[in-house]
Amino acid sequence: MCGIVGYVGKRSAEEVIIDGLSKLEYRGYDSAGIAINQNKETIAFAKKKGRLSILEDYLKEMPILGHVGIGHTRWATHGEPSDINSHPHLNEKETIAVVHNGIIENYMEIKEMLIAEGYTFKSETDTEVIVHLVDKHYNGNLIEAVYAAIKQLRGAYALGVVAVDHPDELVAVRKESPLIVGLGKEEFFVASDVPAILKYTREVYFLENGEVVHIKDNALKVYDENKNLVNKEVKTIDWDIEAASKGGYDYFMLKEIYDQPQAIKETLIRRLDADRMIHLDDIKMTKEQLEDITKVYIVACGTAYNAGLVGKYAIEKLAKIPVEVDIASEFRYSNPFIDEKTLLIVVSQSGETADTLAAMKLAKSKGARVLAITNVVGSSVAREATDVFYTWAGPEIAVASTKAYTAQIVAFYMIALDFALKRETITQDKYSETVDKGKEMIENIVKDIKDTKSAFYLGRGLDYMTAQEAALKLKEISYIYTEAFAAGELKHGTIALIEKGIPVFCVVTQDDLAEKMISNIKEVKARGAFVIAIAKDTNKEISKVADDTIYIPAADDLLMPILSVVPTQLVAYYASLARGNDVDKPRNLAKSVTVE
Ligand code: F6R
Repeated sequence: MCGIVGYVGKRSAEEVIIDGLSKLEYRGYDSAGIAINQNKETIAFAKKKGRLSILEDYLKEMPILGHVGIGHTRWATHGEPSDINSHPHLNEKETIAVVHNGIIENYMEIKEMLIAEGYTFKSETDTEVIVHLVDKHYNGNLIEAVYAAIKQLRGAYALGVVAVDHPDELVAVRKESPLIVGLGKEEFFVASDVPAILKYTREVYFLENGEVVHIKDNALKVYDENKNLVNKEVKTIDWDIEAASKGGYDYFMLKEIYDQPQAIKETLIRRLDADRMIHLDDIKMTKEQLEDITKVYIVACGTAYNAGLVGKYAIEKLAKIPVEVDIASEFRYSNPFIDEKTLLIVVSQSGETADTLAAMKLAKSKGARVLAITNVVGSSVAREATDVFYTWAGPEIAVASTKAYTAQIVAFYMIALDFALKRETITQDKYSETVDKGKEMIENIVKDIKDTKSAFYLGRGLDYMTAQEAALKLKEISYIYTEAFAAGELKHGTIALIEKGIPVFCVVTQDDLAEKMISNIKEVKARGAFVIAIAKDTNKEISKVADDTIYIPAADDLLMPILSVVPTQLVAYYASLARGNDVDKPRNLAKSVTVE
């Protein structure tokens, strides 16, 4: 999704903004632009379709000097990727410039109104209505004009606004879409995410919905939607910029696959005491409150949804509470049964996924308790939730989620164990054994896997959940059409797709289902499939039937999804490389999906 960077200070705004935008590339974009207030008659700007490097090359030839500016990477929603549709958008006189992340839902009616008043539009974007609205309300006071403009907007927006008459000013707004403020020495930054500003400062404000930032006269103030001054708490970022860079790997995805033991360890260790007891400090739910819960929903998108499928299994098995898992974009429209006795567990790496946020809001409005599993401290999901479980996976930059997924599964196991202990459905001994095995497993990582051209994934039980995540990973970065099937469903239609030479990955880590999987492997092999099994190293039978076997360390069945997903991530990675794709930035995808 779009990225915003704004700067007011003594450095070259162009340099700070371009550098900041490069740190936001992971969000996904198709064009980039910059606007700088040079204290002249109009705002200087440049915008280019394509990679940020195209804009950078252009600026090398035609630099824009100045110390106050805004920049943007655009992920097209309204109107195709093009120079014209790129942000910043300017008013007709080019005296005001706006960058925007989000979607203005009522932009058509505003546009018609503005056209009737004589405004002309250059782009197809929803954003352009914002700059014309600011222009319409502008009478010398920039922040007042922005307040008046946003009053007319419906939807999600993070905004950065500059105007020629205000050479040292920048106004920024956060509503639904993420925006943070960086506080430097006599300089200020606004950005969609922390990595954009970490090079310059670690002191940040996380903005709340409706807050308006006013940088003026070398000071920064934050106001709420009613124009009251807000006393913000400064947060210090304690993770390093190195953590957000490739650390010697060719791609972030590979680094993040290798980061998994650390991500899992961090997620575990912070909640275990010397006696291996779990402390979920941010989950305030008491034993009594938990006993009151009659329904649990897990709601998320994409990979986080796949982690939720494993979470359901763990909670049902350990805590003996029935759980339903739903895709966030479907949940709201499916008339879910929600009341005060409902627990909604949402899962989101970024904590900014619009559909997930909408599901939370719906559940909260009906009195449900909301527990969020997220990787981003201070994210919208974290702030909306009643209870938060942070996965400490560190920043995940590659669009394809890997370490966040395994950390999410660990989070579910810890939550399931905590619930189980509270509900007394598990004994202390069994609990300690499970945690011990989990800790052992983090030492083991599967290294390299051969690349493949096309594939099906098969699995049963928990292995089917892994198969679904494996198929998503392979298709999203290799663009190979890949599907996951419950192996038992094969005979009910799917087997018609099996033909000579087609690679079929079979995940076989559940002891009680292994024999049945062997029968399924034989079925597809009889029809010419090339079978690659992913199995526990204790299962010697598998290598006799599969063409190739990737052995992984054996552990408790319940914990196998944490290990079995690793080779599938590597399959996706190498397949993507082999096909010459951009592993970290697959086409059409964004890291943080902040629109519905
Ligand atoms: C796939 C992937 C996506 C995300 C989904 C939810 O590799 O990364 O499917 O899992 O967009 O994102 P979050 O977890 O940020 O809510």
